[in-house]
Amino acid sequence: MSETLILSGNDVANSVYSKLKKRISKLAIKGIKPGLCVVLIGDDPASQIYVRTKTKKFNSLGLLSDTVLLKSDIIEEKVINIISDLNKNPKYHGILVQLPLPAHINSQNIISSIKPYKDVDGFHPENVGWLSIGKPRFIPCTPKGIMKILEYYNIDLNRKNVVVIGRSNIVGRPISILTSLNQGWANATCTICHSRTKNLDFHTKSADVIISAIGVPNYLKGDMIKKGSVVIDVGINRVSVDNNIGYKIVGDADWDSIIEKAASATPVPGGIGPMTIAMLVENTIESAENLDNHK
Ligand code: GUN
Repeated sequence: MSETLILSGNDVANSVYSKLKKRISKLAIKGIKPGLCVVLIGDDPASQIYVRTKTKKFNSLGLLSDTVLLKSDIIEEKVINIISDLNKNPKYHGILVQLPLPAHINSQNIISSIKPYKDVDGFHPENVGWLSIGKPRFIPCTPKGIMKILEYYNIDLNRKNVVVIGRSNIVGRPISILTSLNQGWANATCTICHSRTKNLDFHTKSADVIISAIGVPNYLKGDMIKKGSVVIDVGINRVSVDNNIGYKIVGDADWDSIIEKAASATPVPGGIGPMTIAMLVENTIESAENLDNHK
């Protein structure tokens, strides 16, 4: 029998929400309702589901969440004009452009057009810069959620070897900074592995904590990890199965084999996914609490 501790993102997210409710009530007394505007370009089914899930959570907490739906062939300049209006709209404390964007749009131009103080994703170069020098403004939601779940379960990163698989701006790069930030308990030695890494197994086998964010179903197997390690699975992958919807969601880790070795692991679903949404709510509330920055 495996004794792997399941790191429940649902439980941690619920504890985050109960704290956030107090902050929401304080803002309500001042007549402030935290508001998010999501910009969704195109009709990617996975992005549509993510956006719907975010909206539902905001609404259930009594927060504002609007979505601007744009056609996939919209030109970049028009998107930037729309964002410029959202930047000026006081209803919105946070603006999020759902990624990925259609290939003809330069994502960096779009992200850079968001006012940094409303960039609740923490993707604007100014916010990436603040994080890089150890003085974060908005921390990107998925990496922030990973840190929160590790903290909740008292998984100390001091002097640990962390191996991150995947070097995206959304997860891999920011989590490598956060785990080794030299602040409090985040004093890990972090290695980033990616598609060009030689002998990836060599790295994962020596890791105390493995954070996988590559989007390849069941990639990380039990024989690639050390006994007693912690597995943080960021993958949300659709695989075809014969059920009523025709697919199921699995992570990057092959659950059946990793639970034979891992001391603890995040499940998919119910692991990092709910944490990402909780951190988006937290960042939006934080933005609404700092209204002076919006002037
Ligand atoms: N696509 C996948 N994850 C994210 C995220 O955290 N933010 C945005 N904007 N798009 C995403």
